[in-house]
Amino acid sequence: MTEAVLEKVEMNKVLKDKVAIITGGTRGIGKGIAQLFAAAGGQVVITGRSPESPVAAELSEGADKPVKYLGCDLGDKEACANLIKSVLEEFGRIDVLVNNAGITQDNLFLRMKEEEWTSVMDTNLNSLYYLCQPTVKAMSKQKSGSIINMSSVIGLHGNPAQANYATTKAGMIGFTKAIAKEYGRRGIRVNAIAPGFIRTEMTDELPEETQNKYKENIPLGDFGSTKDIAELALFLASSGNYITGQVIQVDGGLFM
Ligand SMILES: NC(=O)c1ccc[n+]([C@@H]2O[C@H](COP(=O)([O-])OP(=O)(O)OC[C@H]3O[C@@H](n4cnc5c(N)ncnc54)[C@H](OP(=O)(O)O)[C@@H]3O)[C@@H](O)[C@H]2O)c1
Repeated sequence: MTEAVLEKVEMNKVLKDKVAIITGGTRGIGKGIAQLFAAAGGQVVITGRSPESPVAAELSEGADKPVKYLGCDLGDKEACANLIKSVLEEFGRIDVLVNNAGITQDNLFLRMKEEEWTSVMDTNLNSLYYLCQPTVKAMSKQKSGSIINMSSVIGLHGNPAQANYATTKAGMIGFTKAIAKEYGRRGIRVNAIAPGFIRTEMTDELPEETQNKYKENIPLGDFGSTKDIAELALFLASSGNYITGQVIQVDGGLFM
């Protein structure tokens, strides 16, 4: 995140008094969102699979409120219930839930093992059910809340060797619209972000030749940064009061 972006956000403190959970905040897009939300004055809770993580201390430097880390395997229903319960016990409310954590287990469909299918379903999709049910209950009582689901352009357009991943990312979009319709009158807004290629460990794994081939098809000519996603997430978390049920592509014009 550039200093100028952080300074601008720090001045406005738009998340002051807000409690935000960001799943998968230990690196990549989730970490970028957590950094911006903390700079905006929010009480930020990040999650990852390990029991502990040094990332919370790193993100807390200079923030108004210390960033909290909670270990939680999102494929585990009980762990997800405990995560939401402990945030509510400690902070009393949840204003923003960013369902960001996600994995890929790519393989051609005919070679795809059941474990590759189910692990991606568990982490990317079933976690929405586990986390959102108690969160929507709390947000309904508050009569406010913003849920942001990190989908992907792959969920809109598909991709070879990613049938499992594409299914989960498309499922997140259906879930976003259904919950937006069901709970709009309780003041809960639900939106999805569909990133294209963003520079993170997930995309760093792609060979350079493949990355260059992808870039040829991107009108803006390059992969995006975590800041590009974090700025939209901050807008959906703090403003955008008449926006719900939307899927917003952040992909440099890759698909239009
Ligand atoms: N990067 C892109 O170009 C791109 C494009 C479109 C969509 N997306 C989506 O954006 C989201 C973030 O992507 P990213 O590139 O930032 O990914 P990343 O760098 O691989 O980070 C994934 C995060 O998810 C956490 N995580 C993974 N499995 C988990 C589990 N079972 N339980 C709890 N946490 C888990 C990881 O935490 P630990 O490893 O610490 O457990 C990590 O913090 C994903 O949903 C991805 O599908 C990314």
